[in-house]
Amino acid sequence: MKINTDQPIFHERTAVTTTIASFWDRISEGWNMVWGPHIHHGYYENAESLSPLEAQVKLIEKLTEMLVINQHSHILDAGCGMGGSSIYLAKKYNASVTGITLSPNQVKIATQKAALENVPNTTFKVEDALSLSSFADNTFDLVWSLESCEQFYNKKLFIEQALRVLKPGGTFMLATWCSDREVYENQYANKYKKLCLAFDLPYMPTIEYYQQQLKECGFKITSSADWSQRVKKSWDVGISLVNAYSLVKILKISGWRGLRFAYQIKMMRDAFKENRVKYGVFLATKP
Ligand SMILES: C[S@@+](CC[C@H](N)C(=O)[O-])C[C@H]1O[C@@H](n2cnc3c(N)ncnc32)[C@H](O)[C@@H]1O
Repeated sequence: MKINTDQPIFHERTAVTTTIASFWDRISEGWNMVWGPHIHHGYYENAESLSPLEAQVKLIEKLTEMLVINQHSHILDAGCGMGGSSIYLAKKYNASVTGITLSPNQVKIATQKAALENVPNTTFKVEDALSLSSFADNTFDLVWSLESCEQFYNKKLFIEQALRVLKPGGTFMLATWCSDREVYENQYANKYKKLCLAFDLPYMPTIEYYQQQLKECGFKITSSADWSQRVKKSWDVGISLVNAYSLVKILKISGWRGLRFAYQIKMMRDAFKENRVKYGVFLATKP
């Protein structure tokens, strides 16, 4: 078997959208109980001991260190989950943030959380990041996409849309899981396919693929890095968190899909350990 990582394994748009929406609808509340509001890696330097939440906030801080954000910034959080980043950015910088996700349940959780924390400068809605049809051209100063692009069934369409909705001079922050090579064969192809199916990733291209797409779409790349070594500990942390819960409890809070996900965490831990998955962080400007 041979698989190219720049082409979707599954690409029927409606089926992918429905699967992803129902996955997050089903497991978000359980995730919030076990992990908290952020659905992304933590950032670990040296041997520091951070709680999972502290490490996740540190990842956001490391990303924002590279950006200019202030009270005038209008931000699109593309694939906003339960609003973890949106609420952080709105609170810390007093920026206006619009979060979009495929999951109505995530919109509900994020909206309630923003109201509870008194963050009126956020809005959440169901919208497909690949069309962004309710947003006019040149609307945002920053498009923030933290660990959502791996679930997009057409990466190029999203990059084109990000370019369209950004103002000239605006910044695109893309942090996403990437493959370590363009083509997998035999047992590696098999492992790649299993991983993609387990995590609802239509495909997972390389860091070089993203660099090329960003350039071809018209972005000017200002930074491109691999943070795998900084984030991979998150999977061991995730396994310990899940191990603290009984199977019955996981089943109760997030159903069969949540239970299946809990088992699948080990697959991703191993993929990071074997350097089959990279953590690409790209910053790019709209000319
Ligand atoms: C792993 S979660 C990351 C959530 C959030 N960025 C965070 O860091 O907490 C992936 C998110 O991407 C969203 N997503 C996946 N495909 C999408 C699409 N085509 N359009 C909009 N959102 C999408 C999912 O609904 C989910 O909210």
